Amino acid sequence: MNSITLLQPAKIVFGLNVIDKLVEDDLILSSDKILFLVATPLLTTFQPISESISSLGKKVVLIEYNFPGEPTFSQFDMLLNKSGYFNPDCVVGVGGGSVLDCAKLIAAMTGNEQVYPDVVGIGLLKKRMKKLICISTTSGTGSEVSPIAILLNEKTEAKSGIVSPVLLADVAYIDPSLTVGLPAKITAETGMDALCHCIEAYTNKFAHPTVDIYALNGIKLIAENLEKAYKNGNDLDARSALSLGSMYGGLCLGPVNTHGVHCLSYGLGGKYHISHGLANAILLPGVLRFNMEASPERHAEVSIALGIKRKENDLATALAGIEFIEHLSKRCGIPGSLSELGISENDLSELADIAMNVKRLLVNNPRVITKEDAVEIYKKLL
Ligand SMILES: [Fe+2]
Repeated sequence: MNSITLLQPAKIVFGLNVIDKLVEDDLILSSDKILFLVATPLLTTFQPISESISSLGKKVVLIEYNFPGEPTFSQFDMLLNKSGYFNPDCVVGVGGGSVLDCAKLIAAMTGNEQVYPDVVGIGLLKKRMKKLICISTTSGTGSEVSPIAILLNEKTEAKSGIVSPVLLADVAYIDPSLTVGLPAKITAETGMDALCHCIEAYTNKFAHPTVDIYALNGIKLIAENLEKAYKNGNDLDARSALSLGSMYGGLCLGPVNTHGVHCLSYGLGGKYHISHGLANAILLPGVLRFNMEASPERHAEVSIALGIKRKENDLATALAGIEFIEHLSKRCGIPGSLSELGISENDLSELADIAMNVKRLLVNNPRVITKEDAVEIYKKLL
C-alpha cells in the first residue's frame, strides 16, 4: 500500500443553515479586521451577516466578486491591492471555486514577500499571512476543502495551479441552503466537476483506501441526486446530498487529486474559456473509455457506485457506467460533444500540447497518455 498524507481544513462545518453560526465563529470573534470576498449573487444574503459582524465592533470590508470565468493574474492583482490597502486579519471567501481560489490566495499573499508568479506550482507558496474562512455556495469545485487555487495567465492563456498546504482554509462552511438559488446549468456543470473529482481519485494511479471511501460515497451521492437538484433546485434533500458528494470530491483533491480528465480540460478552459465543469463533463466519458483497460476492476467499481448492476466482466460493467454518465449529462442539459462548443479538428493538436504540459495531473493517470492519445481522445468527442 502506498503512503498517504491527508490534507483538509482544521474545521469543517456542514449542514443546512450552518451559515447562521458564522457570526460566532472563533476565527471571526478573534479578528478585528475582516475582508469578505463575495460572489455577486450572494451579496444580498451576506449583507446582513457582515452587518451583524460589524455590530460586534469589527471593521468589515465587503468586496464584490463579479469576474466571469477563471480569475486572471491581473484580476487577482486588483483584489490583492484592495486587500493590501485594508490589511485584514481574516479573509472570508463566499462563492464558487473561482471566488474561493482568490480568497485563499488573498489570505496567503496579502503582506507576503513572495509574489504570485513565483508561487505557481507545487509547494512553492511557503506561508499564508491571514486567517481564512471558505464558504462554498456551489456544490462542485471542492475548493473550500482543497489546498489548490487556479489562476489564468491571460498572456499565455495557461491555467496556473498553485498547490500548497497553506492554501487550506482554517474553517470551511458548507451549507446546502446557499446552493438553492444556483441556476440549473451551474448545478449540472459543477455537479459533474465533483463527480470527476471522485472518479479521478478512485481510478487514480495514486489512489488510496482512505480516499476511496470519500470517492465511492461521493460518486453514489452525485449519481443519485444531480438530476433531482438540476430539475428542482428547491429540493433540499437533493441539494444536501449533492453538497456532501461535492465535499467528498473536494477531500479527494488534496491527498490524491485528479488525472487525465482535468488535464485534458486545461486548454478548453484557458484558451477557449469553456467553463471548468462543462469541459470536464464532456471529457469524462472519453478519458474513462481510454483508461478502463488499465484498471478494469476499479472502473467497474465506479460503475457499481453509480448504481449499475454488475455485468459479465469488469470491462462490460465499466462500459455500462460510462454510458450511464453520458445519459446523466444529457438529462442535465450538458452538450455531448466538443464541436457543440465550437472546437474543431484543427484545434486538437494545440489542446493536446497544452495537456501534455500539465504534468502534475498527467502523472496521476492510470494509463500513459501521449500527445497522440490525447488528440485521439479529443477527436472521438468531437
Ligand atoms: Fe475540478
